[in-house]
Amino acid sequence: MKKNFKIAILPGDGIGPEIMEAAIEVLNAISKKYNVQFELKEGLIGGAAIDATGNPLPDETLKIAKESDAVLLAAVGGEKWDNLPTDKRPEKGLLKIRKELELFANLRPGKAYTALLDSSPLKETLIKGVDLLVIRELTGGIYFGEPRGTEERNGEKVGYNTMIYYEHEIKRIAKLAFEIARGRRKKVTSVDKANVLEVSAVWREIVAEVHADYQDVELEHMYVDNCAMQLVRRPKDFDVIVTGNLFGDILSDEAGALTGSLGMLPSASIGEKYALYEPVHGSAPDIAGQGIANPIAMILSAAMMLDITCKLPEAARDIENAIEKVLSEGYRTGDIWAPGTKKVNTKDMTQAIINNL
Ligand code: IPM
Ligand code: MG
Repeated sequence: MKKNFKIAILPGDGIGPEIMEAAIEVLNAISKKYNVQFELKEGLIGGAAIDATGNPLPDETLKIAKESDAVLLAAVGGEKWDNLPTDKRPEKGLLKIRKELELFANLRPGKAYTALLDSSPLKETLIKGVDLLVIRELTGGIYFGEPRGTEERNGEKVGYNTMIYYEHEIKRIAKLAFEIARGRRKKVTSVDKANVLEVSAVWREIVAEVHADYQDVELEHMYVDNCAMQLVRRPKDFDVIVTGNLFGDILSDEAGALTGSLGMLPSASIGEKYALYEPVHGSAPDIAGQGIANPIAMILSAAMMLDITCKLPEAARDIENAIEKVLSEGYRTGDIWAPGTKKVNTKDMTQAIINNL
């Protein structure tokens, strides 16, 4: 079994460096306990990379990423770079690394933690027991479709994008969704807007075709507007949600908010060759540098890496259990704090988790 892993570390902007430090401390503890080695190599991405090199994804960073077994990324973006053109913004670094590494599937689990039921905006009866997974297509759709642009037509400004999916792009993500559903509750909800969009009609048709090989898994199709509504009405009914890039972006934030805090949500972006792990939340510039950010989503992203890339599921479960324990003991960062619980900073939360490994 492989015991040595090269990990690209991309802290990025805002709270990125603080939560990345937390994840590295946890990895150090895992390294000792499970006798595995992590060789970490840091790279620049996002605003930090723009400031240092003028490019949100320098070639050097891409090289480090491609030479690694996995990439750990924290967060990119911030007000400072908000006025740059779309093509030069920190977010472009993120989109480019997803595309360059062909990370076509983004896995975003949304799970209700018993200790955090109070911080969900939904009633406890609705949220208790929620355990869903959004599988978002990540390298196609309207995010990358051509033609795209802004120009002048008939004397006024227009902006346009193209939502396009090729059969092979739909096939591979649908297959993955059914495979993953087999290891869960065997239900896939494919989300589209087939009542309006041709691209969605093709999506629906191909997903149904792929389903023929997975008759043991239940498939339902749902329009995206209805899905947004059902997620708040009966979130427990969802197991695996598979959808395109833009719908997945929106629904995964919604699914995330249901369970209490975006600060708790990890993600894995995987392709044939590479994998990248990052929290769903952003760089939270408003609290950056204060040492108070919630490191849990970042730490859980590292746990997903241990599970999927390093094939160390027991180490991943170890981290997840430690987090549940710490939460049940009442430790909370500001974003999930409630009266009667212990408010801690990033370092104390991280240490508490490590103490429970
Ligand atoms: C996400 C983010 C990104 C996206 C942004 C920062 C480009 O919202 O990872 O969900 O839209 O994919
Ligand atoms: Mg998003």
